[in-house]
This record gives sequence, structure tokens and C-alpha cells, in this order.
Amino acid sequence: MPAEIYERRKMANAEKLSQFTNVVKKMFIRKNPDDALQGAKEGGLEKTLGVMDLIILGVGAIIGSGIFAIVGTAAAGENGAGPALMVSMVIAAIACIFSALCYSEIATMIPVAGGAYAYTFASLGEFMAWLVGWILMLEYLVGFIAVSCAWTNHFMQFLKGFSNILPAWIVNPPAWLINDFRSAVHYYSNQGVDWHNVIPSFCGIPVCLNLPAIIMIILATALLVKGTKDSAKMTGIMVAVKLGVIALFVLAGAFYVKPENWTPFAPNGFEGVFMGAFIIFFAYIGFDAIATAAEECKNPQKDLPISIIGSLVITTIVYVLVALVLTGMQPTNGAVPEGILKAPMAYVMANVGRNGIAGLISAGSLAGLTSVLIVMHMAATRVLFAMSRDNFLPHIFQKIHPKFNTPAILTVTVGLVGIIGTFILDLNVAASLSNFGTFTSFIIVCVAVLILRKIEPNRERPFKVPFCPLFPLLGILCCGGLMVFSMVVAKGETAALSTEMFIIWVVMGCLIYFAYGYQKNRKVEALALEESKKIAEKDETITASTK
Ligand code: ALA
Repeated sequence: MPAEIYERRKMANAEKLSQFTNVVKKMFIRKNPDDALQGAKEGGLEKTLGVMDLIILGVGAIIGSGIFAIVGTAAAGENGAGPALMVSMVIAAIACIFSALCYSEIATMIPVAGGAYAYTFASLGEFMAWLVGWILMLEYLVGFIAVSCAWTNHFMQFLKGFSNILPAWIVNPPAWLINDFRSAVHYYSNQGVDWHNVIPSFCGIPVCLNLPAIIMIILATALLVKGTKDSAKMTGIMVAVKLGVIALFVLAGAFYVKPENWTPFAPNGFEGVFMGAFIIFFAYIGFDAIATAAEECKNPQKDLPISIIGSLVITTIVYVLVALVLTGMQPTNGAVPEGILKAPMAYVMANVGRNGIAGLISAGSLAGLTSVLIVMHMAATRVLFAMSRDNFLPHIFQKIHPKFNTPAILTVTVGLVGIIGTFILDLNVAASLSNFGTFTSFIIVCVAVLILRKIEPNRERPFKVPFCPLFPLLGILCCGGLMVFSMVVAKGETAALSTEMFIIWVVMGCLIYFAYGYQKNRKVEALALEESKKIAEKDETITASTK
């Protein structure tokens, strides 16, 4: 090969390598935490929250469809834990505690909106921040879909209490009007009915819609567009209602417990116990809401960890009691009735003839689910808003409604995506998918603590994770372990479907970043550079003319 050609190739390769290194460098550009903090200071929130307010906030965000609905699947679904569900609950709580401490450290150190997304931008850079934001949509937006599906199930159970007064078509509507397509087909095939004969179609497309969930999503969206002031009083009432119906269930249900239902204790062995922990993990999601309130905390150093751990301990105790009574009232081994998987507490109460209590539980759980639904919708909107400010999404999403002062376009978009989601996902698939998203974001927050300790050792930390790096590492191990376990070991359609969807979601996120976020951020950088050049030139001309 002539030396000239060889030299040219060498230069071209060097050029390519430098371009690639440049791309990688840009992908890992970190956002300076001081910039984020400055923004938060300017918008300065009042420091009003004490430890009790924070615990109420945490319990309010945590208790929802997990304990009111998913608990049935975790105990008695495919590969369920059976009565060993209480052990699964403790395992899930332990996985949460390490991540919760890591959340506390970063939240008190960088108390800004955006949660895990903002922390990742400060520690792991642009690409990882986008990916975390994208994955957080699984936690909040898909979680929101899961809660809306649970809402339907409880609403239908609630209506059953009025079967004497309401017409039959309301109490027992066709399955295609209260389910997604896959669940409706399952339902009809279980009944031995060919779905082609019962599900209506429009232009050849079968029409299945989860109508109550869709109506609820529309109402929640309208409420958030109009803007609801998060009043502590309202949250307090919701928490009291939720805890009240759970206490009613435990106290009344205790009289119907048959100890023989607790054997075999773990019908599916360790596999069932760990699968139960993975499924019921959804019931603990929400404590990160406490960390996001760090900016409004009176005494974050002390109150934040106490309230995070306090609300996790309270919910774990409540959950274990529910598991004890539920699995004592209802055999969870083998085939179980549909009701136990949809609205377990109300179902078992109705099953022992306590229809009044079942009705109260359904009504109370509807209130509880509604509050979680609103919190999740708000959380998804907040994260997307922060992402749009960082050029990862079109700026149109930052538009604030002139009258209501809320990010109306974004709120409606989240509502629409939620509605589309109800056509595709059912409660269990949505909850598993949401778990994958949450595990990933928890792992990244633990990693962020370790990285920030290295690269920002002198930054003030009002709260420090004890036994670092052991606790963050245990957080990574517990969350990662449960996630990998459910991906590799879990059997059944739900597990397979949610694993596939999670992988597709992550790949989609990477592609969207390179096609949009990366390009957009470079354009913004180039514009800023041009702007600063123009200013410098202007300054030079002025200096020259004054000389
Ligand atoms: N932990 C919340 C619930 O169970 C997401 O609904």
C-alpha cells in the first residue's frame, strides 16, 4: 500500500476515533449540582414539614393498590408465596430501606425537584439521566395505569354491594367493557366462550376498554390541569380512611381465620417467596415522595431518615397483619377464585357473609387508590417537566396554562398515554413493569451515592447513609437480586410479558436519546457558543472604539 494512502487512512481512523470519544464525552456531561440548587433557591419553598407530616405523606403515597389488590396475586397467583407472603413483605421492605437511606442522602444534599432523574444528572451525566427519566416513567406512568386498573376492580366489587338496587348490566357489565383485550380474552376462554362471538369489533378491530379506569384517568387529569393544592389536611384524611378500612379488615377478619389455611406455609418454596417479594414490592413504591419533599423539610438531617424508615416500618407492620388475616381466611394453595386476585380484602369479607364490611372496605380502598393515582400522575408530570427543561423533550411541554398555572399540555399528555396504556396492560403486567422501573431507579440512586461520595467529597451532606459503602451496595444487591430473579426464574405469562416489555422500553429509550435528546442538546450548546462569541465580539468592538 502506498505510504500516502496508508497515512490518509490512518488520519481518517484517528478522526473517527476522536469523533466517537467526543460523543461519549458529551453523553457523560454532568449537570453541576450548584446550578440545580441555585434554581431551587430562587424558587425557595417554605420549610414547613415536620416528622409527622412527612410520615403522613409517606404512608399516603405508599398504601394503595399493592395492599388492596396486588396482594392477592402475590399470595395466590401463579407461583405465589401462599401464607409465606408475610416473609415476602419483609424481604421487599428490606430491599427498600437501603435505597431509602440513599435517597435521603442525595435528597438532603441536592434538594431539588426531579428526584432520581436530577440526582443522576449530577452524578452520572446526560445519557444516564435521560435513561433514568425514561425508566422513571415505568415507575410513575405505568404504575399509574396499574392503580387505575385496580380502581376498576374495586369499583366493580363496590357496585356488587348494590346488586339489589342497581340494574344487572351495571353490576355485571360485559368483560370487554372493564378489561384490556388480553384480560377479556382470558376471561372468556376461562368461561369456555369464544371471544369472537362476544367482543364487538370496529372496522375489524376488537373493541375492549377498561371504561371505569379511563373515566378515572380523565377525572384525575382534569383535576390536575385545574391545579389542586396538596393540602396536608386532605392527605391526612385519606391516610386515616385507608388505615381505618385496613384496621377494620384485620379486626373483623381475625374472627374468620382458620389456622389450617396457613399450611402449607410456602406452597411454592423459596421461588414463591421471592416471586411474592418481587410482586408485592409495588406496595412499597411511594416512599421516594418523602425524599422529594426534602426542600420543604424543617429539619431534614433528623426528620427525613426517621420519616422514611418510620413510614416503611408502619406499612410493613400493616402489610404483614393483612397478609396474616387474608391467608388465614382464604386458602391460597391451588386454584383460587377470580375475586381474590382482583379485590382480595373485600372479596374474602363478602365470602364470609360480611357484605357491609366488604362494602366499607371497597369504598375506603377507592378513596385510597384515588389519592395514589393522583400522586403518581403528578410525579410522572414533574419528572417529564424537568426532562423537557433539559431539552430531552419538546419545549412545548413546559407551557404553563395561563389561567390554572399548571403544565396543562404535559398533564393531558400523561393522561392520554395512561388511557392508551389501559388498552394494552392489565393490573399485574403494569405493576411488574412498574417494579422493574423502580428497581432500576433505586439501584441508580445507590450507585449515585457511591459516585458522589468520590467526586464531591466536600459537599455538605445534612444526612449521610450509615455504613457507606456497605448499605448502598446492599441496596444494589437486594434490588438487583429481586429484579434478576424475577427475570430469570419467574414463570408465567405476566412475568415473561413484563420482562420483554422492560427490555423493549430500555432499547427504545436509548434510540430516542440518540435521535432526539443528544442532537437537541448539541444544537442548544452550539447556539449558546455562538451567542457567547457574538457577545465577546461586541465587547471587543466597544473596547476598540472607546480606545
Ligand atoms: N405503593 C403504591 C400502591 O400500592 C404504588 O398503589
